[in-house]
Amino acid sequence: MTLTAEQRPVPSLPHWNQTPEDIAAAVREIKRALRARIEAHGRTVEQAFAAVEERVGARVAEIEADRERGEEIWPVLDYDAIAAGAVSPAEAAKLAKRGCVVVRGHFPHEQARAWDRDIVDYVERNKFFETYTGPGDDFFGSVGSKPEIYPVYWSEAQMRARQSDRTATVQSFLNSFWKHTDDEGTQWFDPDRDALYPDRIRRRPPGTDSSGLGTHCDPGTLDLWMTQEYQQAFRHLFSGQVERYDPWDPAHRTDGPQYPGSTMCSAFRTFQGWTALSDMDADQGVLHTVPVPEVMAYLLLRPLLPDVPEDSMCGVRPNQVFPVTKRWHPDLYRALTPIPDVRAGDSVWWHCDMVHSVAPVENQKGWGNVMYIPAAPWCPRNEKYAADVREAFTTGSSPSDFPEEHYERSWNGRFTLDQLNETGRRGLGLPRRPDPTTLV
Ligand SMILES: [Fe+2]
Repeated sequence: MTLTAEQRPVPSLPHWNQTPEDIAAAVREIKRALRARIEAHGRTVEQAFAAVEERVGARVAEIEADRERGEEIWPVLDYDAIAAGAVSPAEAAKLAKRGCVVVRGHFPHEQARAWDRDIVDYVERNKFFETYTGPGDDFFGSVGSKPEIYPVYWSEAQMRARQSDRTATVQSFLNSFWKHTDDEGTQWFDPDRDALYPDRIRRRPPGTDSSGLGTHCDPGTLDLWMTQEYQQAFRHLFSGQVERYDPWDPAHRTDGPQYPGSTMCSAFRTFQGWTALSDMDADQGVLHTVPVPEVMAYLLLRPLLPDVPEDSMCGVRPNQVFPVTKRWHPDLYRALTPIPDVRAGDSVWWHCDMVHSVAPVENQKGWGNVMYIPAAPWCPRNEKYAADVREAFTTGSSPSDFPEEHYERSWNGRFTLDQLNETGRRGLGLPRRPDPTTLV
């Protein structure tokens, strides 16, 4: 008797909730199991990947056609429209399709430029350049020997931007693109409360030659295939039912382990983002993305094809950034698109799974200054990390996701506890400040 696909037992997947000791053996084992599982659902891996290629390929073709017509690939919205709830359905649809957006006037231009000057003042006052001992990690360290990425987290400028109502408004708007509450009523995260995720700043001076950053994605490495939670999050990909995969579904992504590594992000981010502190032209070594939020389908199934060595996940290794390469992912490169020109005060956001890079530049015109501020809504994972963040904030330390440099512990002018507003307190998981009128 031959069983149909529906009748065949579906094999479960082995999982490793910590980095496996024998990585090559684990990769071989998970690849065999994933293929068996996909086939038990009635498709070969080649057929499942062909469906992904069709889905992602259609997006790539649209991007190429839009580019040909001279249309802006990146959605661009005015902050005022977001704040007024006046984003049109067509604009929202474009954001959902492209998974990225530039928010014009997130902060007033002069405010952002003043913050940029304040950061310079803060680091100079505290003799950062005299004490800087070199890049603390290999990833950004490969960019060059002068500090472009400042391991500075607790300046007034950064904290005022993070706890600003304007940032909270944009974050809520962006979080709402995700299916934060599922059909059974499980709320995976609170779209209207963000965890305050401290990150660094980049200041790249005029005249810089930079080789940029290679094309990569950030949400994880081998854990994306190997932990039980990610296997549930990507369940439709790992059963070959790729049409059912929704990149805006956060189910099983807001808790659970991640493999440690120097480039990891402990938080669940709906969008990665930064705020421009200088004007930047699109040809001056800026951020590029592959503006296709479904890209994880391509990245996770590609290594299962037979042309990839059996112990390889297309070059993905623990504790190293997830590489996206012309060798394994050529279709994606066709869609790689720079941000439009931005001005100080604009903010730039992209879906946490999306492939991105920073272009090389020679003799850069103008400054290239940003502060990294993502959208990281309140959920078990972010609540847990908030405890580390509170500790780092209190002592002026580098947060635990970042190299242990701790420059700011002794610095003057660090943002202090009493400067937190309610948004800042909420983002750090602190209780509301008591209302003084109720204390008399
Ligand atoms: Fe990245």
